[in-house]
Amino acid sequence: MLKKWFKKHYIIYGFLFIFVSVLLSVNVVDSVTVSNLFVKLLYILCAIVISSLTTLFMAVGIEEVMSKKNSGIKNIFIITACEMACVLALFFICRAENLMFVTPAIFVSCLFAILYGYKMAWVSAVCNVLITAFASRPEFLIYAPIILAVCLMISKLITSTKERSTLSMMGVGGAIGSFAVSFALMLLNSTGLADNWTVILRDSGFIALNCFISVMLIVGILPLFERISGVLTEFRAQELMNQNSPLLKRLISEAPGTYHHSVMVSNLAEAASDSIGTNTSLVKVAAMYHDIGKLKRPQYFGENQNGSNPHDMLDPYESRDILFSHITDGIDLARKYKLPTEVIDVIGSHHGNTTTTYFYYKALNDKYFGDDVTEDEFRYNAPKPVSKEAVILMLADSVEAAVRSLPDKNEETVSKRVDDIINGKIADNQLSESAISFKEINEIGARFKVVIGGYYHLRTEYKKPELVGSNE
Ligand SMILES: [Fe+2]
Ligand SMILES: [Fe+2]
Repeated sequence: MLKKWFKKHYIIYGFLFIFVSVLLSVNVVDSVTVSNLFVKLLYILCAIVISSLTTLFMAVGIEEVMSKKNSGIKNIFIITACEMACVLALFFICRAENLMFVTPAIFVSCLFAILYGYKMAWVSAVCNVLITAFASRPEFLIYAPIILAVCLMISKLITSTKERSTLSMMGVGGAIGSFAVSFALMLLNSTGLADNWTVILRDSGFIALNCFISVMLIVGILPLFERISGVLTEFRAQELMNQNSPLLKRLISEAPGTYHHSVMVSNLAEAASDSIGTNTSLVKVAAMYHDIGKLKRPQYFGENQNGSNPHDMLDPYESRDILFSHITDGIDLARKYKLPTEVIDVIGSHHGNTTTTYFYYKALNDKYFGDDVTEDEFRYNAPKPVSKEAVILMLADSVEAAVRSLPDKNEETVSKRVDDIINGKIADNQLSESAISFKEINEIGARFKVVIGGYYHLRTEYKKPELVGSNE
């Protein structure tokens, strides 16, 4: 397993290891006062062991988090670069006189918690604290558990909020919590640095201030990191789901049918995502924006037509091209409006390489084109869904459109249509790139039926029992 992880990104992790081990070794050479060369070499060996351990721990953490997010090498690079910057700062801080409370470990943990989740935050916190403990002088060792506790607390606190406006409140709460944690731990450490009230109060105050400033910095700098990383944070997801966001406003006024379809798809996808434990924010946002490409020619899509169908005036190949273009137009529009890369990737694969069946059969039945038509010509030239979130969107999109077009929506017909759509996608090999399991697909189908049932108030047709020998 480890071999597989390192094989993929070994250059990045190798560079991180060399960077950390060089800094720790330099620190050891400078700070160890003994003149015995053997002892110094032993310290350097320890520095290399610590560097290996932290790099290994970071690598395992990064690979695990990234595999769940299906994120590319860009984010691995961002995490590693932030970690290296943090280690460099720690190197100077550990050499300075009692400057441990300005540690950037708290800022880095907060940043990772928001962008990549709590797991990445605590992995980074443990590594930074390990490095701090090794590089700092013995009398400052008490700061290591304090910084670790503060990092874990503020990261947990910050991941519990979903709105950008409450982040600064979290900064205040985190600062109070940090003060309490630092104060308690320093009090427990009766020897060494924390031997009088003034020092305890002063240092606890500084750590609380660090915590508050870190969160305030995050408030200011987060949009930049969201842009660079392409990650959809909870805060950005809330903003994008707001009806006043520019693209949704356009969708409501220029393509109301598509907007309504997107809301339905979003509801279906959200329920399915919750049931199998994928990134629901990503699924919801991607579902709301999946058909924004239709904004270019809304009247060419069934849900926006009022009686007249402009495709009647076109040959099947022209119609096919218009349908195909809603994917590329959607990606262009998403980039123009700076949607997160994660969302754009899911939008790009929401039809996979499925066939535009209606126009394929229209071409087959056309006297002019009929004999030369092949199905491949009518297949979308787009990637198949890879992430589970992308699979959910593909299925929800098809199910919503198919059920909406059913003339008779009762429990039996809807259930059969949902099963047919899902089985059709499997048979057409559309889910072959994804790691989704049959168990999860069954769960998704079951959730779709429940949500659609609630929406259309489906009832089973009860047959009247035959009254044999009734006394009435
Ligand atoms: Fe679409
Ligand atoms: Fe759609």
